[in-house]
Amino acid sequence: MTRYEFLKSAGFTGGALMTLLSCVKNEDMYVDALVQNPDGTTGTTSGTTTGTTTGTTTGTTTGTTTGTTTGTTGTTSSASTQADTSLFVTTEKLKSISAKATIDLTSSGYSKLLTKGGYYVISNAYVIALSKTGKYIAATVTCSHEPKKRVIYSNEEWYCTDHGARFSLTGAGLNSRGSRGLTVYNTATDGKTLVIY
Ligand code: FES
Repeated sequence: MTRYEFLKSAGFTGGALMTLLSCVKNEDMYVDALVQNPDGTTGTTSGTTTGTTTGTTTGTTTGTTTGTTTGTTGTTSSASTQADTSLFVTTEKLKSISAKATIDLTSSGYSKLLTKGGYYVISNAYVIALSKTGKYIAATVTCSHEPKKRVIYSNEEWYCTDHGARFSLTGAGLNSRGSRGLTVYNTATDGKTLVIY
C-alpha cells in the first residue's frame, strides 16, 4: 500500500491529503512500515541498521587433535642378538692363527660375548666385544690420550672412561682426546673359541 493509499484509507481527502503528502520528510522514509504477512494480515517491522566493523584479531588457537591410526599388523622378524655365524672360520683355520689372547666362548665366564653389545676386558690388555653387526671386535684397553687402561666398548665405539676419548671401531679418533687413534686387533672364531691376533 502506498502512502497515498494509506492516507486516503485513513479518511484524508482533498487539501488535507495533499498537505500531508507534501510534508514527507526524509526521516519518514525510515519509520516503521506496514508490511503484508504471508497470511494476509498486516504487521509492523522495525528497520535494522547494519554496518561493517573492521578490525584485526590476533591470538593463538590451541587444541588437541584426537585421531585413530589404523593399519595392518605384520610380522617383524627380530634380528639375531648373537654372533654372525657367516663370519666363523673352521677350527683348523683358527688353530693356525698366532693368537695374542684366546677366549673359550663356551665358558659361562664369557657369556656376555654371546650377545650383541656385550664386552670384556681380557688380561687387562684387550677389550673385546660383540658388535651390533654380530662381529667380534677387539682393541687395546690402554688409551692413547694418556696410558690409562680405561677403554671400553660403548654404542658401536671404543670409549675411554677417563677423559672421554672416542674412537671408531677401526681405531680412528672421533674427538680431540682420541685424536691419536687406538690400536685395534683382528679376531677370529669357530663359534667355540675366540682369538685376538
Ligand atoms: S686417558 Fe683416555 S681420554 Fe684421557
